Amino acid sequence: MQNRSAKELREMFLQYFEEKGCKRYHSFSLIPDDPTLLFTVAGMVPFKPYFLGIKKPEVLRATTAQKCVRTNDIENVGRTARHHTFFEMLGNFSFGDYFKEEIIPWSWEFMTERIGLEPERLYATIYLDDDEAHDIWRDKVGLPEERIIRLGDEDNFWAAGPTGPCGPCSEIIYDQGPEYSCGKPDCAVGCDCDRYLEIWNLVFMQFNRDEAGNLTPLPKKNIDTGMGLERLASVVQNVPTDFETDLFLPIIEEISKIANVTYGSDPKKDLAIKVIADHIRASAFMIADGILPTNEGRGYVLRRLIRRSIRYGRLLGIERMFMASLLPVVQTAMGVEYHELEEQSSAIEQVLNTEEDRFSRTLVQGSELLDTEVKKLVSDGVKVLPGEVAFVLYDTYGFPYELTEEICDEHGFTIDKDAFETEMEAQRERARASSKQASAVMAKSAYSDIREKSGTTNFVGYTMTEIETQVVAIIVDGEERDLLNEGESGDVILADTPFYAEKGGQVGDTGSIAQERVIFDVKDTVAPVDDLTAHRGTLLKGTLTKGALVKASIDAERRKAIQRHHTATHLIHEALTRVLGKHVRQAGSIVTPTFLRFDFNHFAQLTSEQIHDVEKLVFEQILKDLPVLTEEMSIEDAKKTGARALFDEKYGDLVRVLCVEGFSTELCGGTHVKRTGEIGVIKIVREEGIGSGIRRINAIVGQTAFDIFQRMGFAVAHLVTIFGDDMENITSRVEELMDEKKVLERKNRELQVKSATTNIQDSVKPAASVNGIDFIVEKFQNISIELIRQIGDKIRQKYPTSVILLIGVGEEKRVNMTVMASDEAVAKGMNAGTLMKEITAVMGGKGGGKPALAQGGAANDEKLGEAMQKAPAIFENLMNAKG
Ligand code: ALA
Repeated sequence: MQNRSAKELREMFLQYFEEKGCKRYHSFSLIPDDPTLLFTVAGMVPFKPYFLGIKKPEVLRATTAQKCVRTNDIENVGRTARHHTFFEMLGNFSFGDYFKEEIIPWSWEFMTERIGLEPERLYATIYLDDDEAHDIWRDKVGLPEERIIRLGDEDNFWAAGPTGPCGPCSEIIYDQGPEYSCGKPDCAVGCDCDRYLEIWNLVFMQFNRDEAGNLTPLPKKNIDTGMGLERLASVVQNVPTDFETDLFLPIIEEISKIANVTYGSDPKKDLAIKVIADHIRASAFMIADGILPTNEGRGYVLRRLIRRSIRYGRLLGIERMFMASLLPVVQTAMGVEYHELEEQSSAIEQVLNTEEDRFSRTLVQGSELLDTEVKKLVSDGVKVLPGEVAFVLYDTYGFPYELTEEICDEHGFTIDKDAFETEMEAQRERARASSKQASAVMAKSAYSDIREKSGTTNFVGYTMTEIETQVVAIIVDGEERDLLNEGESGDVILADTPFYAEKGGQVGDTGSIAQERVIFDVKDTVAPVDDLTAHRGTLLKGTLTKGALVKASIDAERRKAIQRHHTATHLIHEALTRVLGKHVRQAGSIVTPTFLRFDFNHFAQLTSEQIHDVEKLVFEQILKDLPVLTEEMSIEDAKKTGARALFDEKYGDLVRVLCVEGFSTELCGGTHVKRTGEIGVIKIVREEGIGSGIRRINAIVGQTAFDIFQRMGFAVAHLVTIFGDDMENITSRVEELMDEKKVLERKNRELQVKSATTNIQDSVKPAASVNGIDFIVEKFQNISIELIRQIGDKIRQKYPTSVILLIGVGEEKRVNMTVMASDEAVAKGMNAGTLMKEITAVMGGKGGGKPALAQGGAANDEKLGEAMQKAPAIFENLMNAKG
């Protein structure tokens, strides 16, 4: 058999099935469009709706090399020859087209004639009662009877998950030879050891399994096959495990180089190297598909993989950041086929670095904590780690539970999982309690009553700014009323309204509800229950009654300003995706008449170039004056347009799709400008991080932005006049001045020290003397503690046997005191700490310290005079008492 690279094998497979009429698709994302699955676990996942007959496929035959993630066997990675978290599945699929008759002989032909595997080494397994498959293997392929093996559900019935399409399967087995055998007498096809390797699974997808476990026949008979590329490569390249194939070896070599160890010299180290090699591939691909490390779902899996690698890195002796430095070899091994690695390379690098940095900071402390606990338990003879410790490690030190579990396992420990879960639940409860909004819960009943009685509010505000309509209800303090008197505040419900109720980040409208001699001032508009608009405000004039005919008018200028900011939010969202990468997703927003705020997931602070690029891209769309169009459609149709949606938001059957022509498409119920030109101009005024992996942008447009530009202009013009210089030179002039200022300040400090210390020895006189010990009191204004100490040392030179009290009065009259007692003073019974305590007590302050040195102070100098006056007597008392 000819040796071939993984790249060649991948290409041969795809080409072979193209010859059989299959359409070749690029690998689909690792994030499946399927709520029942966390990851794409097999090549068939993206095609599930076609197997189920829910959707009509574009073609009846397809082939892919699909990237897959499976994490159920993560502990086995590196310990066996074949377990991986990330792998590539070579697959071909028939949606009600070719079936067993075709796929069995094809797979045989590909394996023997194209790849060149020796037919004598091949076996086929089939499902217990699948005579059809049996006959095809025997009669069409010519496989001897004794090499067709019937196995049960466990081996030869395949399903992607507990529910969904499934069916009996037939596997092609390759005999690696007796040297790979476990040696057990019953080692044969079906044995778990490495001798009889399952390389290709042909699934005859015939059933759908429902939640109760019932199988119903699918509308058509389908084919789904899957062959692990890593495994195929190991056979063709004749290497003992997948890790020695060209898919892994370059990565393994790079890790060995970084760790300065030789692969193959120590099984423990090999394990660590293999784990890292596996996890870096998985992490890189997950990040490329937009997954970020978090504490739940996919993000948690990613976090676990990265943190697990870092820990194994430490076990290899790698103390520095290393994950990102493996990316170039991962890219070389995989990159040509997977352009996403190249396209997202900077994002992958940054995410890995950020996560590695974050975890490195707590890894040492966490490990120490765990070590101490383990030692303590060992000495107590206990082998169970308390769940509370696992929780602290999780919550404070960022140790994924499973990581703690693994470390414990290495020490022969288990974790009290129930106690851990109890802590987790308590934390979730705290989070829930803090997010409950009392106001939303309160008074809800009055509003739902009204909605039941009178129906929902008809919103006309997409096209109109005012309307004649009727007052349906008035609510004050949660109770329905028939009328509202002048000066009273409350909520007014109308039959129709142009007022937009706060939703999806867009603030509510303001305006008025009026009749002749009646004016209700609307200060805010909200929807206390779905589809019912409450106009919240105060009756300025007259009496408003239920049933009255009124004219409802919004503050149209304010609304226009809101619309400008809202459309700009969409432009910013799209621009961020283009500048930072596809992983950017909205995490929240606020749209007001004077500013907008946009929160999104991203792992690092934006550089000024990135901010500049986003602004520029948005401004280009403003200049193009693009039409902004809306259309109502079903959620399915909306998805087809590629419209972006907030994943955690619920949508009704009909959704509103907002499209900035040629730039962005998004689901949105808000109100918008008609053309982007109305936005005028944009300025991002702030960018900041607001929690793990979430960034926030504040931006302004239209009038607010213009006002800021004007004010900035005035400020710069003023500076230009002051400095008499060009605008271009102002910043460097200011910087120069700041530098000069720093130099001057330093010089000034030096001078202060000099002048304060030069004459000090002459001017200082003792305020008291007992037993040959002098007591010296000196006071200074605005002087640093450091300088005070230097002065103290100078005084000490003149009065070597002394107690020196130095007082500094600083900003806002804060008093700082230092007492320095010489050795002789201490020998004669003086304690600087006691002296300090008594003196500061006079001022109502605090102080204390050691016999030779004490610090203290008071919040202000009100009683400083008194304290200074009493100090000599306090000194004398203490000396006499002790002396
Ligand atoms: N979907 C089948 C598997 O994953 C081919 O084994």
